[in-house]
Amino acid sequence: MADVAVIGAQWGDEGKGKLVDWLSARADVVVRFQGGHNAGHTLVIDGKVYKLSLLPSGIVRDGKVSVIGNGVVVDPWALVDEMDRLRDQSISITPVNLVIAENVPLILPLHGELDVLREAAAGDKKIGTTKRGIGPAYEDKVGRRAIRLIDLAYPSTLKEKVEKLLTHHNALRRGLGVKELNPEALVEKLKQIAPKILPYAGPAWRLVQEARKAGKRILFEGAQGVLLDVDHGTYPYVTSSNVVAGQAAAGAGLGPKALGYVLGIVKAYTTRVGEGPFPTEDESETGQLLGERGREFGTVTGRKRRCGWFDAVLVRQSLKLAGVDGIALTKLDVLDGFNELKVCIGYDLDGKQIDYFPAGMDAQASVKPVYETMPGWQGSTEGARSWADLPAEAVKYVRRIEELIECPVALVSTSPEREDVILMRDPYED
Ligand code: IMP
Repeated sequence: MADVAVIGAQWGDEGKGKLVDWLSARADVVVRFQGGHNAGHTLVIDGKVYKLSLLPSGIVRDGKVSVIGNGVVVDPWALVDEMDRLRDQSISITPVNLVIAENVPLILPLHGELDVLREAAAGDKKIGTTKRGIGPAYEDKVGRRAIRLIDLAYPSTLKEKVEKLLTHHNALRRGLGVKELNPEALVEKLKQIAPKILPYAGPAWRLVQEARKAGKRILFEGAQGVLLDVDHGTYPYVTSSNVVAGQAAAGAGLGPKALGYVLGIVKAYTTRVGEGPFPTEDESETGQLLGERGREFGTVTGRKRRCGWFDAVLVRQSLKLAGVDGIALTKLDVLDGFNELKVCIGYDLDGKQIDYFPAGMDAQASVKPVYETMPGWQGSTEGARSWADLPAEAVKYVRRIEELIECPVALVSTSPEREDVILMRDPYED
């Protein structure tokens, strides 16, 4: 397979970073296709730690081309900071190894501010966003008033575009009781950042199309997870982009047949950061223990993640919605030492058993998980690289999950180390 898309199948934080890193070592082109700097992952290469938010993972490796596709929203100031940080770590970033779709919408300071203001105004009804301005920037994109990267190349018409945008935003700001913005100041700010980012702008869609034609290996790097998808997730407690695999094509400028293999990343238990329904959330010591063992703190915001048992109903649904061919099961080692493990196999909704996650907010909040209990294992799975290294109960757990989610397990990840995987099927060789 020349093209592999990596998609999170829960609420993000499934451990995509390690798998993307593992796959990007073998890819020629790595493409981000949705989201923005709300994502975050840490790569450890030859003992050096790299923190990435918006830049595709290929950036830390020589000879790869990294592409920020049109489906992403780009904060130019955050991007320049991220590039500077990586350059300080001796990573070379040039217009040869980084191309940003010229039609990406920009995240402006006013978007971050609006995100924060709205969250504060919502009180206990807040979404729990990353406060990076992601939602407001996507709103402006679909509202057809966004400033796009290519607009920075035309300073003479930039002011007109900014004024149109501010007609909308200043009305909102008046409503929220904050100071209105002056178009000149924003235009000036944009003109200052333009030379730092415009050199990377280009028709990214063409580059990706040509790479495909030349038989190059493309890796589509998803951010967040299907349950945060704006259509299919736990709306309104979602991010503002489509995160399913179909978006990899649309958000990179390719047709729907472009994706060869879709790898879903699935954590062996469940976590969520931010507000919203979470049927298997466990607020007892079990949830605490999962959080401690799994080091469940957000990479971007440092927030503590909510934790609970594996929910096979949610994952099965996500995998179908995202068109996943096989999964990578991550963090199995976090379950070492539990006497018993629970897996959610259905829900009770007002006394009726259902086998899918309903769309309504009220139903989502009131479903009760129906659990199956499985024996745990006392041995360690940490660092295992073959089935033979796993305790029998761990193999049973993985096999039972595979059955419940109706999707094959292609890989099992058994530690944060890149080489600690049990490989059943290589996505690039499938
Ligand atoms: P936003 O994307 O900042 O608007 O946040 C919307 C929701 O998505 C919140 O619940 C965030 O916690 C969640 N979210 C956004 N990005 C990530 C991520 O990379 N990992 C996990 N959750 C995320």
